[in-house]
Amino acid sequence: MLTPRGLSLLRGGTRGSSLLCARTLCHGVGPRPRAPGSYYVTTPIFYVNAAPHVGHVHSAVLADCLHRHRTLLGCNSRFATGTDEHGLKIQQAAGAAGKDPLSFCTEVSSRFKEVFRSCGVSYTDYVRTTEDRHRRAVEHFWKVLVNNGFIYKGSYEGWYSTPDESFLTPTQVTEATDSVGREIKVSTESGHQVEWMKEDNYLFRLSDFRTELQHWLKGNPKAVRPEKFHHMVLQSLENDLPDLSVSRQRSRLQWGIPVPGDPEQTVYVWLDALVNYLTVAGYPEGHSQWWSAVHHVVGKDILKFHAIYWPAFLMAAGLPLPQTIYVHSHWTVHGKKMSKSLGNVVDPLEMTERFTVDGLRYFLLRQGVPDTDCDYDEDKVVKLCNSELADSLGGLLNRCTAPSLNPEQIYPRFCAASFPKCSENVPGGRAVSEDYRMVKAVSELPALVKENFESLQMYKALEAISGCVRMSNGFIQRHAPWKLNCSKTKDRLWHDTILHVSMECLRIYGILLQPVVPGLADTILSRLGVKPFERTWDHALTFLSTFDGGDCPYERRALGPDTGVLFNRLERYKLQGIPKKTGKPTKAKPQ
Ligand code: ME8
Ligand code: MG
Repeated sequence: MLTPRGLSLLRGGTRGSSLLCARTLCHGVGPRPRAPGSYYVTTPIFYVNAAPHVGHVHSAVLADCLHRHRTLLGCNSRFATGTDEHGLKIQQAAGAAGKDPLSFCTEVSSRFKEVFRSCGVSYTDYVRTTEDRHRRAVEHFWKVLVNNGFIYKGSYEGWYSTPDESFLTPTQVTEATDSVGREIKVSTESGHQVEWMKEDNYLFRLSDFRTELQHWLKGNPKAVRPEKFHHMVLQSLENDLPDLSVSRQRSRLQWGIPVPGDPEQTVYVWLDALVNYLTVAGYPEGHSQWWSAVHHVVGKDILKFHAIYWPAFLMAAGLPLPQTIYVHSHWTVHGKKMSKSLGNVVDPLEMTERFTVDGLRYFLLRQGVPDTDCDYDEDKVVKLCNSELADSLGGLLNRCTAPSLNPEQIYPRFCAASFPKCSENVPGGRAVSEDYRMVKAVSELPALVKENFESLQMYKALEAISGCVRMSNGFIQRHAPWKLNCSKTKDRLWHDTILHVSMECLRIYGILLQPVVPGLADTILSRLGVKPFERTWDHALTFLSTFDGGDCPYERRALGPDTGVLFNRLERYKLQGIPKKTGKPTKAKPQ
C-alpha cells in the first residue's frame, strides 16, 4: 500500500507515478476470485427532485427480475436501490419547494420506496446518500483516491449541465434556442441547457485511465451489455479523456458531503452517488463478498458515469470492477424520452391500478428492449396483457383445471403407452409429431430463459415462454380431450395424459415466470398444487419426468383451491378521455 500523502504533495505529483499506482492497485483487470453463490445487483439511485415514473420502475423491475432469478437458482442474492439526494439540482428543487433539503429528500425518497413496493420490487437494501453510513464510505473512498495519488487541486473551466450534473467538453455541446427564442447552449446528448463554469476545485486524474479502461473492456467483452453499448464506450474512449473535476466550491454547493480536510469544497455529486454501491456492500469494511459479485442495471443516459468514471475511480481505489453493467434504453412518449423535465411521465401507481402489478411488470419486461427506445402506449399494454396473460396463459390454466375436464380436481396420471417416448410406430401411441416438438421446446425452455434473463433480454425470454404457451394450447386444441369418451379405458388414459402433459407445461411456465410476474406465477403454481419448496429453478429441470420413465411427485395430487380467473381481460379506454401529456385516462369509461 502507498503511504498517505497530503494534497499539497499531490499538486506536484507526476502522471507517471499515478500510472504506476493504477497498475499496481487495479485488481479489476482479468479474472478475479468470486465468492461462490453470491450475487449483488443494483439500480441507479434516483434523484429526488421529482416523483418516480415508469422509467424508474423499469430499471427497478429489471433488477428485481435478475435478483429473483438468482434467488431461484439458489444464490445468496442482494438487491439494492435507493435515492441520490445531494447536488445542485436537489438544492435548487428543495429551495423552489420552500423546504429544507433533508425533509424534502425524505419526502420524495419515501415515495420512491412506496412505488417500488407497490410494483413488487423486492429490494433487500435501500440506500440514501444522506445517510451517515454513506458519508463515511464517501470520505474513506476520497481519502484512498488522495493517498493513491489520483486527486490534485486545480482549476476547472468549462460547460456544466445541472440537470445532468455533468461536465461537458466543447464537442459535447450544441447551440439551441430556448422557449422565448434566446440562443443557448445545450448538451448534445440530453438536450439540457449548459452553463459556463470556472472554479478552483479538485480534479481526478481520469486521463491516466484511458488505456486501462480500453484494456478492461477489450478483455471483458461482456462487461457492458448489450454489445451495442460496450462498443459505444470503446468508441468514446478513442477521444481524449480529460481529467475530471470532482468537487464544487462550498459557496455554490452546500448540499453535499464536504471534502475531507477541506470544508471549502463539496464532493462532486456523481462521485458521491456512485459510491452508494460500495456503501451497501459494507465499504470500507467487509465489502469484498458482495463487491466481487456486483452487477449494475442503468439507463443509457448514465452510461458514461458507470462505464468510464466509475471503473476509473475503482481502479484508482484498487477495487475490483463490476462484473456487468447492464444498460437499457428509454421509454418514450410520442417519441420523446419520458422524463420529469419534459413533464410527459407516466405514473406507475396509476398503471398498477389499471393493469395490475403483474400486468405492468409483464408489459415493461416483454416490451422493453434494451437496445432501442420503446414508445409507451396504453393500447399496447391492453393488447399484450389480454392476448398473452388473459387469453393464452389464463386459458391454458383454465382448460387444465376446469371441473368439466378435470372433475377429480387432481394432477392426472401420465400414460406412457398413449404418449410413448419414441414417436414412430408404437401401437396405442396417440401423440403426433407436433406434440413431440412441443415437449422438446418446453424441455429446452429453462436454459433459453436463463440465458436471456442473464443477458437482460427479458423480452426474448418472455417471447420464448409465450411461444411455448401457444404450443400447449394448440396441443389441447388438437386433441380435444372434451371429445373423448372417458368410459373407455384407452380414451380415459389418453385424456389424463393430455391434462398431465399440459399441467407439466404450466408448472414449468409458472416456475420460469416467477421473476417477472410473481403474483400470477404463484396463482398458477398454487392452483396446480405445487408446494413452495417445489418452485426452485431445479424443479423446472424435471419437466415430464414420466416421459423418461421417472417418477412424478405431482401425479394424483389434489389441485389447490380455485381462486378464479388468472388475469381479467383489460378494457380499452375511449381515446377522447386521454390527455396528450400523460397518456392516462381522465374520466375513463370502458368501451
Ligand atoms: O441519473 N426510460 O438519476 P435519475 C427508462 N441520480 N428508464 C428511465 C427513464 C426512461 N424514460 N427515465 C429515467 C440519475 N430512467 C442519478 C443516478 S446512480 C449512481 C446515480 C431510469 O433520477 C434509468 O435507469 O435521473 C436512468 O438511468 C435513471 O432512471 C436516471 O434516474
Ligand atoms: Mg436523469
